[in-house]
Amino acid sequence: MKQLAFKLTQTLFVILLVVACTSPKKKIDYPKTDLAQNSLIPKPAKVIATNSAFGLDSSTAIFTNQTFKGFEEVGSYLSEKLKEKLNLDIPVNTFDSETVERIIFINQTDSLELQSEEAYELYIKNDSILINAKTAAGAFRGIQTLRQLLPEKSNDTLSDAPMWLIPSGKILDEPNFDYRGAMLDVARHFFTVDEVKRFIDLLAYYKFNTFHMHLTDDQGWRIEIKSWPKLTEIGAQTEVGGGKGGFYTQEEFKEIVAYAAERHIEIIPEVDMPGHTNAASFAYPVLNGNGLPVQNYIGTRVGFSTFDARKDTVYAFLDDVVREIAAISPSKYFHIGGDESHVTKKKDYIHFVEKVEKIVQKHGKQAIGWNEIAQAAIDSSTVGQLWNEPESALAAAAKGSKILMSPAKKAYLDMQYDSLSVHGLHWAAYIEVDEGYNWDPETYVEGLSKDQILGIEAPLWSETISNSAELEYLAFPRAIGYAELGWTKAEDRNWEDYKKRLADQQPFLDENDVNYYPSSKVDWKKKKDIYKKIEKN
Ligand code: ACM
Repeated sequence: MKQLAFKLTQTLFVILLVVACTSPKKKIDYPKTDLAQNSLIPKPAKVIATNSAFGLDSSTAIFTNQTFKGFEEVGSYLSEKLKEKLNLDIPVNTFDSETVERIIFINQTDSLELQSEEAYELYIKNDSILINAKTAAGAFRGIQTLRQLLPEKSNDTLSDAPMWLIPSGKILDEPNFDYRGAMLDVARHFFTVDEVKRFIDLLAYYKFNTFHMHLTDDQGWRIEIKSWPKLTEIGAQTEVGGGKGGFYTQEEFKEIVAYAAERHIEIIPEVDMPGHTNAASFAYPVLNGNGLPVQNYIGTRVGFSTFDARKDTVYAFLDDVVREIAAISPSKYFHIGGDESHVTKKKDYIHFVEKVEKIVQKHGKQAIGWNEIAQAAIDSSTVGQLWNEPESALAAAAKGSKILMSPAKKAYLDMQYDSLSVHGLHWAAYIEVDEGYNWDPETYVEGLSKDQILGIEAPLWSETISNSAELEYLAFPRAIGYAELGWTKAEDRNWEDYKKRLADQQPFLDENDVNYYPSSKVDWKKKKDIYKKIEKN
């Protein structure tokens, strides 16, 4: 066996070379398949079927551009996923002339028809699959599409070994919004590094590109700050209901950031303030501004805590916190919270937000804050995250800020599906799967235009959930719909069409043991007990 390592530089040269070396030993008579009958989510911008197939089998190899950063890693990720799902060993950038008959080529090019940094083109022919992308992120989105096109069953009649038929044709695709996020509250209940990674893996499959971590709240502080050690020695040891809490060391946070980055997902850290700060004040009572003795807190009330917005020590503390987190967080954004500061006087709140925004900028980041921050004279680079007051979003937009759309009534993953849901809350709404899908982030706030909207994010608050199974009950399948709201243009979205594609996600969800809620709004092929309470793992 002859192994040749390839350094791929010239796209055309490589394609010609590989195709020349891989002329099929035996002509395969592919059955008709229809790419247009796919169940892709998010729905791609353009699909053209050519009614034949690519035969994926053990004589397939992956080649990638090796000069642009990240393309080879995208190839390796695809190879890993093919191994996991099909138990196929597909080599990446090594060439065995005796066995390779078909190739998947992941190519960098600047000449794409579509403009987005995450755009990709996918060309599927009998003997080759070509993914063109400007960036590794685009290539990564493209291979998620390819993963979704893998059939559940191999065809064992076309050749000696099992072959998985991928319908042939062409897909041109790009996201409608640059920011497509989910949020996890790791403060009300702590989620381990592995639980966070598992959620990130699922989000990656649906082309999310942002994961916001709500790292601090009244019930717990979850990130190591070396210059203020009691935050984790004391402030991290509690959670809702009295569990033991937990925190991420800075090394663990970096591990999550790196894991997400491999999936082209950016982590956005949030330190919620000046309210939602009981855990920090419990660790360091000097920070407290509500005039009451500080106790640890394991309940679910909101709005009783505040930092002292007039104390220099508070800003010295925040300078250290933002500096330490900014140093391990590559995102350009730093989320400062700002919601529900009900015991902070309005003038103190405004003073606080304006000072903290400057601290965030000093450490090289742009601030994001919940919609209440629009009361302050925020900078146009600061992003307002709409959750409860459309007029606040309009006020922030009037100051030049971009708006991130997370309306609680539509996009909160912790809202119950209906009154029988075994987890979740319903203070904003019951959000069935169709209700979560049937709205348009572009028209939700009258007076806000598309260019003022950064994107969409679906927050998952964790008052009622404390492990992956419970998280997944609330997040899935609704997060899949939010993926489509962020990626697919409004004119291409339709509930009747979406719900069929959603039902077809069931094999993926089952194979990955995702504890999704089997909503009666969807015609699932396999029935599942809808109100089953999850045993703690
Ligand atoms: C929030 O739900 N308090 C942002």
